Amino acid sequence: MTHLTSAFYTLCASLVALSLGSVASPLATTFPDPLALAGDHVYVHDPSLIQRESDGKYFLFTSHDKAGIITADDLAGPWTEIGSVLPDGSSIDLPGNNDIWAPDVSFHDGVYYAYYAVSVSGSMDSGIGLATSTSMDPGTWTDQGQVFRTQTGDPYNAIDPTLTIDENGTPLLTWGSYWGDIYQFNLGNDFKTVATDPVQVAHNSTPPSPVEGSFVWKNGDFFYLFTSSGQCCSFDPNNLPPAGNEYKVFVGRSASAHGPFVDQAGVDMRNNGGTLVLASHGDVFAPGGEGIFTDSKSGKDIFVYHYLHSQGSIAYVEANSSLGLNAIDWSSVGAVWAV
Ligand SMILES: *[C@@H]1O[C@H](CO)[C@@H](O)[C@H](O)[C@H]1NC(C)=O
Repeated sequence: MTHLTSAFYTLCASLVALSLGSVASPLATTFPDPLALAGDHVYVHDPSLIQRESDGKYFLFTSHDKAGIITADDLAGPWTEIGSVLPDGSSIDLPGNNDIWAPDVSFHDGVYYAYYAVSVSGSMDSGIGLATSTSMDPGTWTDQGQVFRTQTGDPYNAIDPTLTIDENGTPLLTWGSYWGDIYQFNLGNDFKTVATDPVQVAHNSTPPSPVEGSFVWKNGDFFYLFTSSGQCCSFDPNNLPPAGNEYKVFVGRSASAHGPFVDQAGVDMRNNGGTLVLASHGDVFAPGGEGIFTDSKSGKDIFVYHYLHSQGSIAYVEANSSLGLNAIDWSSVGAVWAV
């Protein structure tokens, strides 16, 4: 938490405990626990969750497992891994193309678009790719290959893509970066051609500074940029980073999908801004890798993330990274924000 002012920690949490029957009260001083899930534990990292248009089935996508496809009939599970987006890996010609990262799935004009990243830990030789399907079922995905690529020495790193349609109806990819933090560019109408130069939208200049795992979502008159900041992975239970330096989630908002995004205090996210929405608490450790979708059954916007456990025999083990689900209370954020 070295780069944060203490004021950030006194802000209202914008997530609420998810009770499927009713809207729970926002919790001002603590973070809500994730929805309790039925069934066996399912590994999730950098999750993306979307309901299928045709039948409302829940499709969850995860890093690794060749971009694992996990489905459920109810949000509370049980969740079952049924296959992969790219069972043969990605056609992107880079090390790591057999280990797909951070799939981001959205639906536009009858097509499901899965943006994903290819990289290896500690490398800027990274690529963002695209796969498409009309049903999301295993075996129906077509790898459209590379969208964008970076290399050592670039100011940014091509990981953690997420698609938004901007206020003009233009597809916009937000991505990055660990190095150089969060960038955006427009895509062409094919959803694959890079149409504009990368523009930075979030940057934290104070070590430890990695910002990545972003997500942009429109609510009301604003686009909200969520980011994950801090150490995501590879925790040594006997040598944890200083409390607060692990993954946590910040948000800022803008009238435009292109920013500038400012936090609750009016600080630009390009200049260390960001309002804390979720951090370690209770058994939840290093939450992040977030996404959002609107649940057609409850009508709620659901915040989707992964977290490690801090308790028991599975504490800090990445292989036991779990799915976190909470409802978003936009009103508690929107009421007090000034832009
Ligand atoms: C934690 O991960 C390990 C390694 O994948 C696995 O064997 C174990 O079953 C997991 N534990 C739980 C509670 O999911």
